[in-house]
Amino acid sequence: MINSDAQPHFDLDLATFNRCYDQEPFGYAHRLNTLDLFSENNILRLLEKYAGQTKDYFVSAGARTPGTEFFSVPNGGQTPAEAMAHLEENSYRILLKRLENYDADFRDLLNLLFQQVVDLQGGLNGARIERLESALFISSGATITPFHFDPEINFFAQIEGEKRYHVYSPAAVTDSELEKFYVRGKVEIGQIDLAKRDPAYAHLFVLKPGLGLHQPQNAPHWVETGASRSISYSFVFETSATRAAGRARGYNHYVRKLGLQPSEPGARPVVDTIKSQAMLALTPLRSTVGAVLHRVRNY
Ligand SMILES: [Fe+2]
Repeated sequence: MINSDAQPHFDLDLATFNRCYDQEPFGYAHRLNTLDLFSENNILRLLEKYAGQTKDYFVSAGARTPGTEFFSVPNGGQTPAEAMAHLEENSYRILLKRLENYDADFRDLLNLLFQQVVDLQGGLNGARIERLESALFISSGATITPFHFDPEINFFAQIEGEKRYHVYSPAAVTDSELEKFYVRGKVEIGQIDLAKRDPAYAHLFVLKPGLGLHQPQNAPHWVETGASRSISYSFVFETSATRAAGRARGYNHYVRKLGLQPSEPGARPVVDTIKSQAMLALTPLRSTVGAVLHRVRNY
């Protein structure tokens, strides 16, 4: 079990949570940085467990600018343990995925924190959890993670060092950009142009140990570390409802191609369900998509 005086949790303000959850980024305090789980020895042991698990880690250099194309940055040359050993001399970003599969205490932590979020919503409203994962980010000082968005809801916690977390409201991404991403039906990062964002949607969170933030699905962001090493923890999830909204966006990509104006996901849930189910059937058969579009022309 986790050694702590109290159950790990985020200090979430209920009014802020109800107003902003999965709509607007917001910050909060926590005490995860005081857990033994994040001690130097524990992290070094964890890094060893990832040896050879190439699908579960990503080691990359820092980017030169926030607008750098995400996967153009050199990556893949080092194991997490090797990068950790040279974190001071080089600019590295180490991402350890699915911590809960490598350490039972990380599974306990994920379950506790996720339960808090579910309880605050009063349950999942009939939705299923499709994916729930935790991750650790270890980065050199003065290192940039380029601009992108993710198809998942995120709760983020700073453990060591400083991070300047630049995050935009999901409204900063156009429907057309989201549709181009979701039509692919894959779990990956979304790459969009930073220069085209409206600064009115921008938020900056200066994260120090004990501070964190909630990042809605599709909220684009870029991150820079302070002068010294940074360690952050986060967990992300997708539900059957968020996946269905993504598929409805993918469907809208085809509707828009016909020159029609589709309804936005969320505006008409019954229509979202029809579109989502159509995409489930169509995704393996893209070439036939035109033949069935007449069913939703008016949506
Ligand atoms: Fe991200």
